[in-house]
Amino acid sequence: MNRHLLSTADLLREDALLVLDTAEQMARLSDRSVKKLPTLRGRTVVNLFFEDSTRTRTSFELAAKRLSADVINFSAKGSSVSKGESLKDTALTLEAMGADAVVCRHPASGAPQRLAGWVRGSVLNAGDGTHEHPTQALLDAFTIRRRLGRLEGLAVTIVGDVLHSRVARSNVWLLRTLGAKVTLVAPPTLLPNAVADWPVDVSYNLDAVLPGSDVVMMLRVQRERMSAAFFPTEREYSRRYGLDADRAATLPPHALVMHPGPMVRGMEIASDVADSPRSTIVEQVANGVSVRMACLYLLLGGADEPEEREVIR
Ligand code: NCD
Repeated sequence: MNRHLLSTADLLREDALLVLDTAEQMARLSDRSVKKLPTLRGRTVVNLFFEDSTRTRTSFELAAKRLSADVINFSAKGSSVSKGESLKDTALTLEAMGADAVVCRHPASGAPQRLAGWVRGSVLNAGDGTHEHPTQALLDAFTIRRRLGRLEGLAVTIVGDVLHSRVARSNVWLLRTLGAKVTLVAPPTLLPNAVADWPVDVSYNLDAVLPGSDVVMMLRVQRERMSAAFFPTEREYSRRYGLDADRAATLPPHALVMHPGPMVRGMEIASDVADSPRSTIVEQVANGVSVRMACLYLLLGGADEPEEREVIR
């Protein structure tokens, strides 16, 4: 494994599979009454969040705590960042406090990469701008593999605001590495120009793609990243690209419906579909903890300590 987890584009297949296999062991731990491992005792994990987050921040916090690390939660609001302190000075302050890992979410694409050049510890990208969100893609892959038994050869359809989505990008790279076939469905205005060079098929017709999909992953329309009008009305978007019960009924019986959250019920996904048995939305959150435990464990050297490795066998 690399020292940092910054993107899935540069994640080797064997490393991705190692994360998924390790997460499987971590998930087994979550079923026990005592859910804690001593592996990262005495280590410090800093959650450095410059953007709002519910599940990613709490998931990383719980993951670090389940591995017995000390956790510091740092959010830009209420910190010296609002007094104008730079990312570099913030990083050096945390470094001086002995952070072994920094989990970073930032509105600027590439911020965690810069951070990795300044700190001695491991940097984990928890979402940077519209660039990448590697642990989300890993937890999505983990969820698919757990439900359908494999990733190789599966048809995964990613629907919606691809242009602004780091979740879509990380999933495209990881799913390609793991042998799945990805189709993107979005209005032309919500697809990046570079999509022509991505290893994906593109369609503008959701109804045509659903019957051949093993997995359909819905994306949130990211209003906060939009500076202009990308579609006429919400109703129009929802009618063409929303997943309602009638559309979901055209999926094969085994097909999964996924969403990284936060979802806008009634916009990209109907409530009855989000709450249906084929939806993995709640499982994705639970699996996120196991996958982030695996990432922290592998990056902070847990796998180099054979006697500790035994603990989770
Ligand atoms: C995503 C994100 O922040 O990139 N959410 C998440 O981490 N679960 C997607 C989104 O905000 O729509």
